[in-house]
Amino acid sequence: MCGVVAIVGKEKASTLVIEGLKKLEYRGYDSAGIASLNNGLIQSIKLEGKLENLVNEFNLLTKEKVYNDTSIALGHTRWATHGNVNIKNAHPIISENKVAVVHNGIIENYLELKEKLLSEKFNFKSETDTEVIPNLFIKYIRDGNNFLESGRLVLKDIKGAFAFIAMCTDYPNQLFVSRNSSPLAIGLGENSNFVGSDAQSMNHLTDRIVYLEDGDHAILTLNKVKIYDKNFNLTNRKIINIKAEIGFITKGGYKHFMEKEIHEQPSVIPQTISSFAVGKKSLKIDVDKLGFTDKGSLLICAAGTSFYAAMVGKYWIEQIANIPVTVDLASEYRYRKPCIFGQKSILVISQSGESLDTLMALRYAKELGLRTSAVINVEGSTIDREVDYSLHTRVGPEIGVASTKSFTSQLVVLYLIAITLGKRFNDIKQDVIEKHLKFINMLPRAIAKMLELENKIISIAQIIKNSNSVIFLGRGFLYPLALEGALKLKELSYIHAEGFAAGEMKHGPIALIENDIPVVMFLVSDGYEDKAISNLQEAYSRGAKIILISDKECIKKSEFANLKILIPEFNNEFKSLLSPILMSIPAQLLAYHVAKERGTDVDQPRNLAKSVTVE
Ligand code: F6R
Repeated sequence: MCGVVAIVGKEKASTLVIEGLKKLEYRGYDSAGIASLNNGLIQSIKLEGKLENLVNEFNLLTKEKVYNDTSIALGHTRWATHGNVNIKNAHPIISENKVAVVHNGIIENYLELKEKLLSEKFNFKSETDTEVIPNLFIKYIRDGNNFLESGRLVLKDIKGAFAFIAMCTDYPNQLFVSRNSSPLAIGLGENSNFVGSDAQSMNHLTDRIVYLEDGDHAILTLNKVKIYDKNFNLTNRKIINIKAEIGFITKGGYKHFMEKEIHEQPSVIPQTISSFAVGKKSLKIDVDKLGFTDKGSLLICAAGTSFYAAMVGKYWIEQIANIPVTVDLASEYRYRKPCIFGQKSILVISQSGESLDTLMALRYAKELGLRTSAVINVEGSTIDREVDYSLHTRVGPEIGVASTKSFTSQLVVLYLIAITLGKRFNDIKQDVIEKHLKFINMLPRAIAKMLELENKIISIAQIIKNSNSVIFLGRGFLYPLALEGALKLKELSYIHAEGFAAGEMKHGPIALIENDIPVVMFLVSDGYEDKAISNLQEAYSRGAKIILISDKECIKKSEFANLKILIPEFNNEFKSLLSPILMSIPAQLLAYHVAKERGTDVDQPRNLAKSVTVE
């Protein structure tokens, strides 16, 4: 992943680069660094850990005038891929005090290049794949090429997904930048120009943004930006005006962004609903744009939590629209030679719109001739720009690494897609559609009621916080939620957690049951609840501590459960269908409170990043 940002032509460029890095920390936060040119020399500060370490050191060194804040600088916030987390591997990676590079992505053929460069007596001080880039620059500059020519030769050498920015002491007023599959945007200023991993990283500097396309490279000076395409032809890319709305993002009085994002669901989900439903009467999802012109099968691809949303979507679309749905992990899809028989379209789901696995699945599906659409939160993201049809969830920036409001909003869109397809292909009558929409419109209130369970969830967190392992169970619509509940708990609290379809326990996982292991089950009465309760009983008989989050009917049938959390009453007809959305709330609260109890970094859990732009 990693975030990169650079500035040419603006006083106090390093200070402004750090401001940009603050907005990119979602991309990685295990080390950070900056470099700038001062009187023909590269000066640099790199530190392990969060960006605030870099900020403190920078403030100190500038105050003591050890570091001079000049008008050309670049910066990086890292999510380690190659090489441990240490200062040596932190970016900028600088070779021979002449070329400094910040890089996001992976140079796949770096070993081969490194070997060759070593044989030519080039020096490597880090374990990163990145270091081949500044060394290659030096090689080509030494051969008599200028900065642009050298950059182009570097691009011919390197393979992989990358976005990088290079700065060289021989060209003190220029930045060379390039991207291939990893995101990079250029910001246009007055007598200054900028570049960053996303538009947000530059919104304190400009509102005029140009997104580079794959294979593009560019030279930035203070008064010119020259962009070239992959064939080295000078090209023009569209200038986009980004809205100033992104602005400054606060925790709004909450301790963590995640807590705020969980609690704002009742107020942001209406934005998702109103984007695709006109009151309680009709829907505004375009089936033709979805590429679903005749009844075939639909493919949905996504990663992580978005993949679990896709799983729920499959259950809904198959049940409501009677259309077969295949869901695929984005990271698997393009490598397994998928059979597209009967498929005309792919729907991808991504909060960030930048997950490389998902982007690659999308591009692969495009090559196979499928029409593409996406459920996306971040407008203007790479997937958003590449897809034929975008369905924006519109829940605002999600800063906490764990997906919360994004997940519920993705579910809402999928539910509305299911009804839309049901109307076209499964003869769902208007009165039934209106009923669906009536209950969808009641969701924000229902979510607010679910949030009232928070104190009860805190008491469960007290029980779980010292466990080594937790099992989550669900059946039917709530099976994907069991997977999501487990993912949320493990990524935030670092407690080992697994989710299973309750009926699968007896086929193997039940061997994990030992005395006092917490088993959390999300359950609503759906006509099949007795089966799920039997599965729960089987775990109970073997010593598990049963935590049941459920409705009155199921709780009555599960007297044996050690802890029972009664959820608020909802309309019976839709309770089961909408249960994945409603039950997300206790799942999110549980993970949040266990993590808080354990004192982990809730918003930036270890080893993770908000936007996963490596494969
Ligand atoms: C977990 C989480 C991740 C993301 C996954 C896909 O809480 O947030 O599993 O869901 O990395 O990200 P997007 O949706 O941005 O493609």
